[in-house]
Amino acid sequence: MSDERIPAEYSKMDLKKAKDFDKKVRENFMPAIRSTVSQIIEDYGDLEGVCVDVGAGTAIFAIELCKGTKLKIYALEKEKAIYEVACMNIEEEGLMGRITPVLGDANDLPFDDEFADFIISRGAYHCWDDKVQVFKEIYRVLKKGGIAFVGGGFGRYVTDEDLKRMKTLRDRSLGEAAVAYASLERLEDVLRKANISNYCIIPDKAGFWAEVRK
Ligand SMILES: C[S@@+](CC[C@H](N)C(=O)[O-])C[C@H]1O[C@@H](n2cnc3c(N)ncnc32)[C@H](O)[C@@H]1O
Repeated sequence: MSDERIPAEYSKMDLKKAKDFDKKVRENFMPAIRSTVSQIIEDYGDLEGVCVDVGAGTAIFAIELCKGTKLKIYALEKEKAIYEVACMNIEEEGLMGRITPVLGDANDLPFDDEFADFIISRGAYHCWDDKVQVFKEIYRVLKKGGIAFVGGGFGRYVTDEDLKRMKTLRDRSLGEAAVAYASLERLEDVLRKANISNYCIIPDKAGFWAEVRK
């Protein structure tokens, strides 16, 4: 795996940097995580079955989603140190029985075809060098009747104040990669190239989400 697929600050991260990353997400992006989880629960109802979180980071999002649903979540992360912090966070919350941390790559998901009822990916899309390949993998792993929700918005329940603060922080830290969340044409082009036709684009004030149904 080449390092250019992920931002330099994530690459070959040691445990201290991974813990700093975890702290920064908690300090800065919890409103976006909670807002998106609330939106998912409102829109998709009582979610249960198997969920894969692609690019789960330190599993903060997976933990929130787990608490609000009956899903059994596989939290997939490719950076070892971040994966290790995810393991600690899941254990600390007593959720090891419900969330399984998985060290793996979104380009080659370590799951069987039609494994997941629900696939979530928040804030990881900009990292994917080959976005078409990752969407093909997501579609392969999705069960018939399943839903994938992929993007980088903040959900519809953020306050204007949080929105402004988090958007400034996110766009500053992503630099040019921030365009990934602002370009509808680019996202639709990726979906088309991945041969996915049953999708809809869900906009929010911080970006676009792709909702894929199979
Ligand atoms: C900004 S974080 C978002 C974490 C989490 N989804 C959230 O909402 O807080 C993006 C994560 O995706 C991971 N990632 C990037 N490319 C990946 C890939 N190809 N396979 C698996 N994980 C990947 C990064 O290492 C990073 O931890």
